[in-house]
Amino acid sequence: MKILLIIGGGIAAYKSLELIRLLREREAEVRAVLTEAGSSFVTPLSAAALSGGKVYRELLDYRSEADFSHIELARWADRIVIAPATANLIARIAGGHADDLATALLLASTSPISFAPAMNVQMWLKEATQANVRTLRSFGYSQFGPAEGPMACGEFGPGRMIEPKEIVRELFARDKRTDMAGRKALVTCGPTREAIDPVRFLSNRSSGKQGCAIAVELQRRGADVTLVAGPGVNARSGALKVIEVESAREMLDAVLATLPCDLFVGAAAVSDWRVSKVASGKIKKGKKQQELVLKFVKCPDILRTVARLESGRPDLVVGFAAETDDVVENARRKLAAKGCDWIVANDVGAGTGVFGGEHNTVTVIGRGGDARSWPRMTKQEVASALCDFLAGEFSDECAPN
Ligand code: C5P
Repeated sequence: MKILLIIGGGIAAYKSLELIRLLREREAEVRAVLTEAGSSFVTPLSAAALSGGKVYRELLDYRSEADFSHIELARWADRIVIAPATANLIARIAGGHADDLATALLLASTSPISFAPAMNVQMWLKEATQANVRTLRSFGYSQFGPAEGPMACGEFGPGRMIEPKEIVRELFARDKRTDMAGRKALVTCGPTREAIDPVRFLSNRSSGKQGCAIAVELQRRGADVTLVAGPGVNARSGALKVIEVESAREMLDAVLATLPCDLFVGAAAVSDWRVSKVASGKIKKGKKQQELVLKFVKCPDILRTVARLESGRPDLVVGFAAETDDVVENARRKLAAKGCDWIVANDVGAGTGVFGGEHNTVTVIGRGGDARSWPRMTKQEVASALCDFLAGEFSDECAPN
């Protein structure tokens, strides 16, 4: 694949050198174009040394015109990647400018173009930038990132360029119709019900829709999926193997009986507590009784159990963290406590309508601390984006059995 890399002028430009190296490892032919600001951050010499070729800078450089004009460069590329894509570069592209080599060749190109935004948090969040990004997407550009995390400017939030290896992963993404083929996946979803007596139980508002959507999407992409579903979940879908359970204990038993698997997604809202002793008959209320005291004990933690298995641990263990406050911070803590590889944090606070609704707003957080927040999407779209991401996580070395 012939990849033309446009390096904009941001501090993340140093990562572009690593990107060139990784692309060449994949046997891509790489040519680099440095914007004027880009060449303040990386030298043409280092980009040339790593790419093994000439680096292009000037629109009206008679030497490069003789060699490769903006039109020829545009024609040469199978794909164009802009990394880092700064706020200014994005704005100029959105405005259709052609006053330097990068913008001129982008206008002249008919190849697929991807951009990896990189800028300060506030610049990223500004309506002007967001509008320009939407414009690029409406042109058909693929957007890679940005990620969320500490930034060179000392601030924290979205705006960091995603890592070079993730850009490579996106560029070489396998066919989405089959990228989970050969994988065995186990997904939990829905609430659990913890009996209090033969007629009453403790449960929660989970509908199981997000977990079901993930299971269906994994299966659509070729995985062999078992869904362990709590009560009240509508999980009938094609060839999905569904095990219906009631309590956390039953869910754990079903999960352990289904292992081993390559991927475990714990999307169920498992009850944390169950009564220490389930009454054998219906608990009656006494005539003068004003209070009922129940003693609760902890339910097994299914995610933690699977994530900490000493043998037969799935290659990828993904948890969910439904939070109402400090969503990302609490999810980070949970990820560490459970020992999973990724955690999908979602805000279920009042007014979000997540429980039982069709939409979800999630942040995916990794063990290494990187986080990416996705815009509000339907649960089906979240499932699809999560599967894109997980397919990339299964590295080439970890081929399906
Ligand atoms: O601890 P908390 O319930 O907030 O953690 C949420 C994550 O842990 C979810 O992925 C959920 O499926 C999982 N979990 C579990 N067993 C429990 C409690 C939660 O597997 N008893």
